[in-house]
Amino acid sequence: MIVDLPSTTTTDISKRLIALRHSVGAMAMGRVLTLLLVTDEELADTAIEVANDATRQHPARILVLVRANRRGASRLDGQIRVGGDAGASEIVILRLFGEMADHGASVVTPLLLPDSPIVAWWPGEPPADVAASPLGAMARRRITDAGACAKPATQLRRRAKHYEPGDTDLSWTRITRWRGLLAAALDEPPHEPVTSAAVVAEPGEASADLIAGWLAQALDVPVQRVNSAQGTGIVSVRLDRADGPIDLVRADEGLSTLAQPGRPTREVALSIPNAAECLAAELRRLDADEVYAASLTDGLPEVTRRTVGAAKAARAGEVPAGPAELPDSDGPSMSARALQGRKPREEVPSQTRLQEQVDAAVAEAGAGTVRESADPDSLAGAVAAALVSTLEAAVAVRGVAHVALTGGSMGARTMGALAEQDLSSEVWSQVHIWWGDERFVPEGDADRNDQQARDAGLERLPVPAANVHSAPAGSSEDELGEAAARWASELAIHAPEGARSPQFDVVLLGVGPDAHVASLFPDRPELHETDRGCVPVTDSPKPPPLRLSLTVPAINAAERVWLVVAGADKAEAVRAARATRDDPHLPASWVRGTAETMWWLDRAAAGNEQAAAGNDQAAAGN
Ligand code: 6PG
Repeated sequence: MIVDLPSTTTTDISKRLIALRHSVGAMAMGRVLTLLLVTDEELADTAIEVANDATRQHPARILVLVRANRRGASRLDGQIRVGGDAGASEIVILRLFGEMADHGASVVTPLLLPDSPIVAWWPGEPPADVAASPLGAMARRRITDAGACAKPATQLRRRAKHYEPGDTDLSWTRITRWRGLLAAALDEPPHEPVTSAAVVAEPGEASADLIAGWLAQALDVPVQRVNSAQGTGIVSVRLDRADGPIDLVRADEGLSTLAQPGRPTREVALSIPNAAECLAAELRRLDADEVYAASLTDGLPEVTRRTVGAAKAARAGEVPAGPAELPDSDGPSMSARALQGRKPREEVPSQTRLQEQVDAAVAEAGAGTVRESADPDSLAGAVAAALVSTLEAAVAVRGVAHVALTGGSMGARTMGALAEQDLSSEVWSQVHIWWGDERFVPEGDADRNDQQARDAGLERLPVPAANVHSAPAGSSEDELGEAAARWASELAIHAPEGARSPQFDVVLLGVGPDAHVASLFPDRPELHETDRGCVPVTDSPKPPPLRLSLTVPAINAAERVWLVVAGADKAEAVRAARATRDDPHLPASWVRGTAETMWWLDRAAAGNEQAAAGNDQAAAGN
């Protein structure tokens, strides 16, 4: 529904919004995200469409401030869009004329939702000092787009000069894939240090400047920014090392490639995400992006701008001349190499800062970030604390949160730590609890994951019983198929439109020594199931034999997949699974969140137990 309110006031708009919400039954707007879109007339329609697409997954109140004609009398033309193609969001368009065009903040304030996080987005030219501007000052995050402005390099200099935590830029979001691929390449052995780098792109390509800044800051090496012809976008990145360069080269037609010494050249997808995908990615986080900040403020000023063009530099062998040749035969599979026993982490030169940067960017490549704790109990405490902040933020933004717990020893330990947290019933009454898998044994059986969670303190959480979704119980194999169908229906009831399972904010997964997750075991057909949200499992290698499990698509639809692993017996499984993707021998290499994949490890599972023991001995010996 679209309602036009010419020459109106914010009071009238507020009243109309409330009336419309009752009439069209729009979602309760309490505690959703408020997206403040600030633009001029010429970008307004496109930007509204982008914002509408970006908030499909995260219903929001979208307040669009259009600075219309400043000449003439002050006037506010309003338009409200609810239901229909506004999805579950509400869109309020405020066209400001005359003097009012410069007072957007005072116009928009009465329309802000109480206790709803505000994210501001400037699709076009933003204020010079974004965080200090009246609209920027009211936002928790501020999204600009240097690449959409007339002078991108000037914009980046202003962003760096006035940077405040919460600032980010879509030119940075667009290069997530580039950063992930480069970091994943650096994360593979041999861990030769990078000696210098070069980024080739058309003049004024803001994203390329930010890649250069990221490399300069993360690797602390000389980085050159080389210009290619106008209109070529980002062309290539070269990381120089003693054993030969790592070359990531984008090809307009055909294959983009990643070439590095001692490995077969790989074809890679280097598609640049569209504006809605970039905006959606930024709306999934409310915390400050430190890696962006460091790349913009510390790295970018260190980058050398080469006057010589890309063609001359390529002839001199300083940058790639084009995409590398792809091998016609397959090299050893990634998992085979991974299982050949990579160098244990302690033998890798301790370039801590580089490792942190690589971990941060490898997260975008899907391998995930590692968070290491000393032992299983401190690991459970860290996970529980992160769970509280993540789920409470999710309730604040969406009004609801869904979490899938894991079974196994770490599942119970984490529940025990969670039950010790001081939880607000007002928030946790909106949290829904599920399990990633369940043993198919009678209700109350000590072997059931939900029973182990209850024994560990589940009922001390202020979560209504109706929000605790145990998987069906039973005992015989001939009941299992029907039980799986029943669980699938329950999952589907809480699923967003078109999905088979809830939009999990977090899926917790333990990992077995064989790299199984949930009840998805190596080389089993259930791992490849794509048409169902959950599956029955018989003759499970891990007792008891009968189980129900979420499928990979159901797990990977989660925003965050957190693998919680303790014990030296898991170290090899963790290492091998992180080094590859979608390997049938390694189910843990199939799971990744849409926004985050986190490996919560104790020191032993991280393979650092020996190193820690060595350091402790050394310390004792000094
Ligand atoms: C189960 C679990 C299973 C478990 C791993 C790790 O039902 O058994 O869901 O996937 O998480 O086997 O178990 P531990 O944490 O006990 O090693």
